[in-house]
Amino acid sequence: MEEVLVKCERLDHFGRGIGRVLGKIIFVPNLFPLEEALVKIVLNKKKYMVGEVIQLIKKSSDRIESNCPYESCGCSLKSIKYEKTLEFKKNKVINILKKYGDLENVVKEIFSSDNIYGYRNKISLKVKGGKLGYFKNGSNELIEINRCAIASKKSNEIIKVLNECDLSKACEIIIKDFGEVMIIINGDMNIELLKPFSDSIYMNDKLVYGKENVIAHLGDLKFYVSKDSFFQVNMNIALKLYNKVLEYLDSGDNVLDLYCGTGTISLFLSKYFDRVIGIEINEEAVRCANLNKKLNHISNAEFICGDASKKIHHLKFQADSIVVDPPRSGLTSDGINDILKINPKKLVYVSCDPMTLARDLKLLKSNYEVKEVTLFDMFPWTYHVESVVLCIKK
Ligand SMILES: C[S@@+](CC[C@H](N)C(=O)[O-])C[C@H]1O[C@@H](n2cnc3c(N)ncnc32)[C@H](O)[C@@H]1O
Repeated sequence: MEEVLVKCERLDHFGRGIGRVLGKIIFVPNLFPLEEALVKIVLNKKKYMVGEVIQLIKKSSDRIESNCPYESCGCSLKSIKYEKTLEFKKNKVINILKKYGDLENVVKEIFSSDNIYGYRNKISLKVKGGKLGYFKNGSNELIEINRCAIASKKSNEIIKVLNECDLSKACEIIIKDFGEVMIIINGDMNIELLKPFSDSIYMNDKLVYGKENVIAHLGDLKFYVSKDSFFQVNMNIALKLYNKVLEYLDSGDNVLDLYCGTGTISLFLSKYFDRVIGIEINEEAVRCANLNKKLNHISNAEFICGDASKKIHHLKFQADSIVVDPPRSGLTSDGINDILKINPKKLVYVSCDPMTLARDLKLLKSNYEVKEVTLFDMFPWTYHVESVVLCIKK
């Protein structure tokens, strides 16, 4: 493939450098603003190209020596100063909200993560041809690893052990480390060496060692984490984020927590509100939410299993405030209409995707003023960012 000289003008939303060559835009991972590099063109489309750095010619003063030796498994910003990654994320949300949501001057601040390495409580490792690693971004090409800078210390110990095991019949290994450790194996392998490092091991959906759920601690609350249920990956940021949700609401109200997962936000809020109802589609997560309620001796929270926008119609509950924390796809148009019908005085929107957030806020704008957006660096060194938005009824 052809080699070209590229000067990086800025970063795109995925943290890739953008340059211009041969009359087209070129996207180059791991190339930062004002840097110049000799680049191999790896994809040449009608309107754009994608390249790979062969040799860096001009280096940015923001470039750092990353403590991760691997390329392209997800931490696309690992080689620039941490403060610059925060600046990138803040500007990205500002630009997206302006372009797709017609919103200006609403983004307030970005909260950094106290731990910028070893912060992840969950990693999903792939196995190919008996080798362990991550898939290269957007492909199923394996990058073999023997450590991961953003995974917890215990997860890294387990990676070392896994690399000593025969993995020829395994295809995926998920490690969840909340102090107590759960290992989830898809495929087959001998688990004897893993037992000293884990509290729970599942193989092909069957519990083969230890207990069914592990326990996570967040603030003064405890949560059961099951094999399939969602839990925020960075505990330090999750706590800061939940505190911001709390700060945005008025205490004493009835709160509806849509897309509530294992009930973390509901149970966190329950201490400060009269009544909290959480709705979640995943049965297993709702089972955990109810267990979590008991575990923490909470009586003013209830959990309903089902599609948020269907269950919402049968509620005999006037929510003063609604919290939503949907998946990346955001709210459905039914979901938005439901919120408008319930007409809460406050809506707090927790989002992991600024694009769907901007789209949804634009639709809510007729009835709600977007008062403030606070950002949280849940995933340091990646291009991802979590937003919490306070919307107030007009
Ligand atoms: C980003 S997670 C939020 C979890 C929770 N708020 C927390 O902080 O742990 C999104 C959740 O939405 C749930 N979900 C997805 N589609 C849904 C739907 N249509 N109705 C209700 N819940 C849904 C997923 O199962 C997942 O648990």
